[in-house]
Amino acid sequence: MKATNQKVYISTAIDYANAEAHLGHALEKVQADVLARYYRARGREVFFLTGTDENSLGTVRAAKEKKVPVRSFVKEKSDHFYKLREALDLSFDDFIRTTEKRHAQAVQKLWKKVKPDIYLKKYRGLLCSNCETYFKKEEAPDGCCPVHGVKLEEVEEENYFFKLSRYQKQLKKIIESDELKIIPESRKNEVLSFINQGLEDICISRSSQRMQDWGIKTPEDETQTVWCWFDALINYISALDYGKDGQKFKDWWVDNPRKIHCIGKDIIKFHAVYWPAFLLAAGLPLPQVILTHGWLTVDGQKMSKSRGTGVDPFKLSRDYGSDAVRYFLLREIPPTKDGDFSLTKFKERYNADLASGLGNLFSRVNKLAREMKVEPGLAGLETEQAIKEVQQEYVQAMARYDFREALMSVWNLIAFCDQYIEQEEPWKGEEGSAEVVADLLFVLGKIAKLLQPFLPQASQRMTDQLAGKKESGNLFPRLK
Ligand code: MSP
Repeated sequence: MKATNQKVYISTAIDYANAEAHLGHALEKVQADVLARYYRARGREVFFLTGTDENSLGTVRAAKEKKVPVRSFVKEKSDHFYKLREALDLSFDDFIRTTEKRHAQAVQKLWKKVKPDIYLKKYRGLLCSNCETYFKKEEAPDGCCPVHGVKLEEVEEENYFFKLSRYQKQLKKIIESDELKIIPESRKNEVLSFINQGLEDICISRSSQRMQDWGIKTPEDETQTVWCWFDALINYISALDYGKDGQKFKDWWVDNPRKIHCIGKDIIKFHAVYWPAFLLAAGLPLPQVILTHGWLTVDGQKMSKSRGTGVDPFKLSRDYGSDAVRYFLLREIPPTKDGDFSLTKFKERYNADLASGLGNLFSRVNKLAREMKVEPGLAGLETEQAIKEVQQEYVQAMARYDFREALMSVWNLIAFCDQYIEQEEPWKGEEGSAEVVADLLFVLGKIAKLLQPFLPQASQRMTDQLAGKKESGNLFPRLK
């Protein structure tokens, strides 16, 4: 195998730098982080990217509302999103801001590359100031954005258009054949049905005046600003120094087939239709996988700051620890469907699985080992079989990007250990008890390893204690 095949490039959507992060944003970052840690643990070279989307008109408006200069406003918001790194224990390798020079360079370069597919046209349409997307009357019968619910503005401008229609057939083929794999299947079907309705050319610039001079100007026409989605999607390659044809771009994008975009279902069209079309037009390779998660909801409604349902990931992590937040998002929320958050559910999940399940087993076995002065030994036949089965389930689940199933397989191993203890009653100190405890310590080591991508802190504490380095204390104290 060529060395380049060992690489995995993982990205998340870049968050709008116009409001505070909520737990919905955290879901995607945590999913991507698990993938990154999982592949690293398997010896793959990983590049994990996240960042902030700072060039939209929504950002300008938010800054004006706060009476803060736009540049300092986006800096403050971007710093805020960056801090999710610590709060959620994220291991990203780079954080791109779309106001960086390397990004503007890349955007202008890609624009020039796709120039044969760009033309100027007068246009009148209904525009959502939130997602900066034009909608047809049929798509918004109540005059409001179908995604954001905000009133659409009727706008007439002369703008640049991209010949998306040219790529309809090619996109259909690429997606049908899974050359560009959209996960889950239901989202793939949704994208195909969108393509089959017929792709129209899309507007990819806005008047610089309406943009209040914010954003990236089109290369040859200062009166026009690059549409924020054309701009934002390019972050996936601007961070690899596409703008100056850097080696990173060659290594991670051109020569590396394994490229995974983690995104939410609301932005699938941009990633599965527009982005590949821009890449095709520029003669560049496509991503391999678009892993699409659902929404984190509160009482069945999309969690969102503007609806007042945003749950603060920073506070949650301060109160319960980053592992607990990660665990809830990965175990309770189906990876590609919507899932509901409530503090009650959060605590129930924590107490049942982390405090009673994992934490209890770990302290119980360690206590026995201390009392009986047992060191980790080799696994007995039965435990070895149980470990093998779980490892298989786990790897298969991860190959399907099914984080929940992967965790469930680890909890099967925890249940196996609980049963094994009950059955063997090693506390009685009868013959063979020390071997049972040694076996259990060995399985705990395996559990720590399997959990590393999911619960990095607990995994480290377990590993340290098992190696006799540091007492871990109570891994997950019970919550009231
Ligand atoms: N800036 C664009 C993305 C550009 S990517 C080239 C954007 N930003 S966003 O801040 O609105 O959303 C960022 C990511 O968070 C998206 O993938 C979105 O789906 C996700 N989520 C935002 N709210 C969410 C929930 N309530 N639940 C789960 N994910 C959600 O879109």
